[in-house]
Amino acid sequence: MPTDSAQALRHLPWEIGVPKPDATIVVDDLVRSFGGLTAVAVEHLEIQRGCITGLIGPNGAGKTTMFNLLTGFDQPNTGRWSFDGRSLGRLKPHQVARLGVVRTFQLTKALSRLSVLENMKLGAQQQRGERFLNALLPGWKSQERDIEARAMELLDRFKLDAKAQDFAGTLSGGQRKLLEMARALMSQPKVVMLDEPMAGVNPALTQSLLEHVKNLREEGMTVVFVEHDMDVVRDISDWVVVMAAGRVIAEGPPESISQNKDVVDAYLGAHHDAPLTVEEEELVLAEAEVAIAAEKAGDADLPTETTRGL
Ligand SMILES: Nc1ncnc2c1ncn2[C@@H]1O[C@H](COP(=O)(O)OP(=O)(O)OP(=O)(O)O)[C@@H](O)[C@H]1O
Ligand SMILES: [Mg+2]
Repeated sequence: MPTDSAQALRHLPWEIGVPKPDATIVVDDLVRSFGGLTAVAVEHLEIQRGCITGLIGPNGAGKTTMFNLLTGFDQPNTGRWSFDGRSLGRLKPHQVARLGVVRTFQLTKALSRLSVLENMKLGAQQQRGERFLNALLPGWKSQERDIEARAMELLDRFKLDAKAQDFAGTLSGGQRKLLEMARALMSQPKVVMLDEPMAGVNPALTQSLLEHVKNLREEGMTVVFVEHDMDVVRDISDWVVVMAAGRVIAEGPPESISQNKDVVDAYLGAHHDAPLTVEEEELVLAEAEVAIAAEKAGDADLPTETTRGL
């Protein structure tokens, strides 16, 4: 059932940069280059509150880079972007999360050798910018009960409650995606950015993931999600933004997109996704072990930077 907020989009012209009646995220002149390559160059983009906005485009279009910029995981060369009128420029990911904007990652970031519940707690800690792995250490009691209760409630909702004590590594690809979404909700966000939440998920779980995404909208959250499957995009998006070579090349309701020649020309469709590699996971776990050992030794000045982007 379209919300009022989604209905309000029906009357807008299908124009790049069109102002939204109730914009929550506003982007202006955002540019991010890597050497000679312009990964993102967006002049003006507004995201309607309480809606599901699909962000699509061929591989390398700049979708993930845009998410990185909007959520503080990367900084642009130039540009401004705001959330509910407040500039998010130069904020760190946990500061952006605390204001209410969170994201999930294209490559699953669940740590295999931690339990599902521990992964949830870790998510809450990182979003609040607290010390890495505090959540798992003995003696960290202050908000533990609240956080654990919220984690269990979310795991229940995502049908992962029976797996709470299992290693995340025993979950299927789809269950890991669910875990990642559940973890993003630990901080009760207002805007959720999902980077390919369906990638690698088997068809049996796709429907349930889609329902979860729709439920976020029903609860009043703003959802921006990257997806390559056009059937999925058509099914759940209230509005679609198309990127190619760093730019927004079209935006409009889902039905406007498939008839847009620029989109058809730019959109290549083919896509490859990969899970966290064994080497990447070993590196993260090794850092975690060092962090725990140092914490136990009472080293108060341990940097947390190495875990950023986990
Ligand atoms: N850290 C980086 N260093 C150098 N180049 C980068 C970096 N991150 C992204 N790029 C480049 O920027 C461009 C945009 O990449 P990005 O990952 O944002 O695309 P995408 O739209 O998410 O693609 P996909 O659909 O494959 O996930 C690509 O050409 C990519 O190679
Ligand atoms: Mg990407």
